[in-house]
Amino acid sequence: MHSSNITEEFQSKSFGTFEKEDLHPDVSTAHDLAYEYTKNFLNIRKSRMNSIALLGQPGCGKTHLLMAVSNNLIKRGIEVIYFPWVEGWTEICEDYKLMPERVRRLQRAEVLFIDDVYKGRDEPTKTQREQFFAIVNYRYMENLPMLISSERTIAEMCQFDEAVGSRINEMCRDYKAIINKNMELNRRLK
Ligand SMILES: Nc1ncnc2c1ncn2[C@@H]1O[C@H](COP(=O)(O)OP(=O)(O)OP(=O)(O)O)[C@@H](O)[C@H]1O
Ligand SMILES: [Mg+2]
Repeated sequence: MHSSNITEEFQSKSFGTFEKEDLHPDVSTAHDLAYEYTKNFLNIRKSRMNSIALLGQPGCGKTHLLMAVSNNLIKRGIEVIYFPWVEGWTEICEDYKLMPERVRRLQRAEVLFIDDVYKGRDEPTKTQREQFFAIVNYRYMENLPMLISSERTIAEMCQFDEAVGSRINEMCRDYKAIINKNMELNRRLK
């Protein structure tokens, strides 16, 4: 658990602790998709469309649902590495000597959960661009699944890097939910 960057808080997020009453249809769809993905994982994991993306509105449960997916896979003995975008890059960039090894680990993990892709108002840095492409392209070539959450749509990702955005789009084609921006769905504001 520790080596996957998975905390106790993370472990508490499950489908069981996700309230399903009175959900907005967009969130309900995201829940059902995450649940289906978990159920079908073993059948699809080696295929091209083996990944899931939950995109859009902040605070509506995207990370919670992908943590639920992760916890379920880990219980079944599948390795999941958690890479929170902002903290993950800070760690990778703090030691350039360790960078190749850290990036290699993200490339090769059985399942990689990238949380909050392209977070922040700024453009990604040159290092982020290069290394993120290296990670996504490796996983694309090797058919290794990714769990992706982001406030951004695929089109917005493509504005930063079309090579990355289009690979993510293809890998998540069967399991992609977009929760349209609607502040009422932000549970942190309730
Ligand atoms: N349906 C739900 N039932 C129970 N808790 C929920 C539900 N939806 C969200 N939460 C909780 O609300 C908080 C915010 O959710 P979460 O972090 O998953 O949002 P997010 O969509 O990933 O937001 P951001 O884009 O800002 O990262 C978390 O503590 C999460 O566990
Ligand atoms: Mg989140």
